[in-house]
Amino acid sequence: MAVLLLGQLASCLDITIPSRLPSTAAPVSQSLVSFSIEQDRWSDWIGVTSRNQFFFNTLDNLKQLTGEPPQIRIGANSEDHTNFGKDVQFSQAIFPPATAIVPYPEATNITVGDAYYGAAQYLPPNTHVIWGLNLGQNNLTAAFLEAKSLVEAFASPAVKNVGITLDAIEIGNEADLYMNNGARPKTYTSTQYVKEWIAFATNVSAVGKLTSSSSTKFWGASFAGSSHSNAGFSPLAIFNEGIISSSPGRLISTISQHHYSGTFCSGNGGLLQDLMTKSTIRSNLTQFNADIAASNARGLDYVLGETNSYSCHGSPGVSNTAGAALWALDYLLFATQLGISRVFFHQGIGFKYNLIQPITLTRSILDGTPLPSPLPPHVQPQYYAAIVAAEAIGNSGDTWAVELSIANDRLAGYAFYENDQLVRAVIINSQAYFSTEFVPRSSVHINLNFLGDGPLAMTVKRLNILHADDTSGLTWGGQSYETSDARPSGVPQVEPVDVSSGVDIQETEVILLSFT
Ligand SMILES: *[C@@H]1O[C@H](CO)[C@@H](O)[C@H](O)[C@H]1NC(C)=O
Ligand SMILES: *[C@@H]1O[C@H](CO)[C@@H](O)[C@H](O)[C@H]1NC(C)=O
Ligand SMILES: *[C@@H]1O[C@H](CO)[C@@H](O)[C@H](O)[C@H]1NC(C)=O
Ligand SMILES: *[C@@H]1O[C@H](CO)[C@@H](O)[C@H](O)[C@H]1NC(C)=O
Repeated sequence: MAVLLLGQLASCLDITIPSRLPSTAAPVSQSLVSFSIEQDRWSDWIGVTSRNQFFFNTLDNLKQLTGEPPQIRIGANSEDHTNFGKDVQFSQAIFPPATAIVPYPEATNITVGDAYYGAAQYLPPNTHVIWGLNLGQNNLTAAFLEAKSLVEAFASPAVKNVGITLDAIEIGNEADLYMNNGARPKTYTSTQYVKEWIAFATNVSAVGKLTSSSSTKFWGASFAGSSHSNAGFSPLAIFNEGIISSSPGRLISTISQHHYSGTFCSGNGGLLQDLMTKSTIRSNLTQFNADIAASNARGLDYVLGETNSYSCHGSPGVSNTAGAALWALDYLLFATQLGISRVFFHQGIGFKYNLIQPITLTRSILDGTPLPSPLPPHVQPQYYAAIVAAEAIGNSGDTWAVELSIANDRLAGYAFYENDQLVRAVIINSQAYFSTEFVPRSSVHINLNFLGDGPLAMTVKRLNILHADDTSGLTWGGQSYETSDARPSGVPQVEPVDVSSGVDIQETEVILLSFT
């Protein structure tokens, strides 16, 4: 039905929320939102002789909300182009020329030294780290020297004393693409990959003294795609080929899958509304159901170890916008419902899809043209998705979530539980409202029904977005994170609302309901 409300066309929708933890709910990690960092410019992210305080603050903001810092995976494309140099202090990198499509390309040759790994000490205390080693160049000595330096760094007092741990070592990035990118012959198979992985991991586990009782384990797979079957590259294929029954394979704790919703590698961008669409967010993730089940059945955790909107660093006017924040929020919350335990959003200096730009930029992230004035460190719209999720998860350490059944193609919702009780709900309206639209912005009135005794009172907090295609100017409950130090500014605003009167949500908006 439609009713005319304040001169706007508003529709009405009933949403039913279970008051007690439903059996279909999934546990949600406090570090559900985690990050994958392109390792060629790790020193820029973290700082060398002192910490990059801006980056630290962006992570610490999340830790303050959930009680746990995001996990950090360092590696990716440049992981397979990195060697160790004992005479190099931090790192030296050779970059290909920037292009309009890829204004901030990954380095093709990186040499790192001990202090490169040691800089992990500048992460927030108690951060869990996953670091990648070079398999792509098939040089065991390179991986061996990296592993030695990496393990020594995490055994040093500077890192240990602040509780920063090396959770896992990854060996090789996206080996399923080696046959296409020249790292291996066209005939390369997962069987050969498993053999190589076992050889490298045998060496690395000896160097790192990795055992079933050590805190450092391996991440397995880290493939760009999945065949979801026994043929080709997939978790199931490498399980069948014996990876986890091998001696080092018994130290695999986690299967990591990489995923992007599409690609910008040849410069054709996706449409923002497509990215934000509820059904494609779901189909992008449910395709991994068999892989998740196969991993969980073998006692392995399953993560999206590298993910973001569009590969090759994002699509201009899509990945860097407020609409992408709504995509990211729905994507990461929906992932919890499938048994994905963490979502590592990939970040590189100057990439379009970043949540965080941790250093000053001098050329455009959109087309590489020189900027009229240097752009200081800042957060991008998707950062708000991380903040909203962190607030919804909270710091209980035992939060569960269930997706709400909502009969609407543009509305998605999740309820959050602590101690079996409903505590919060997030509702996302992913109808894109563009700056080019001159029709009134629509909104939906939501009536809340509860299964069991409903809450007595609630407050509403809003992610305020003027337009889906805006690249800045968002506020979360009246606060902005677009500040020089990434700390929130402004007075927090929440609206107390009568539970029985329901709540309105506009196109391109997120609301967080907190119940008491
Ligand atoms: C990478 O650069 C280093 C230092 O300049 C050089 O010694 C090495 O040969 C290069 N490696 C490759 C694979 O080009
Ligand atoms: C690991 O590989 C390196 C380089 O080939 C070699 O020097 C070292 O002895 C190996 N370690 C083990 C335990 O196999
Ligand atoms: C392999 O890495 C080692 C250690 O850095 C280096 O000395 C050697 O030149 C590399 N081998 C090749 C073939 O690049
Ligand atoms: C993933 O989402 C994109 C839109 O961002 C869509 O074009 C694509 O078809 C989706 N892929 C799958 C497998 O659902």
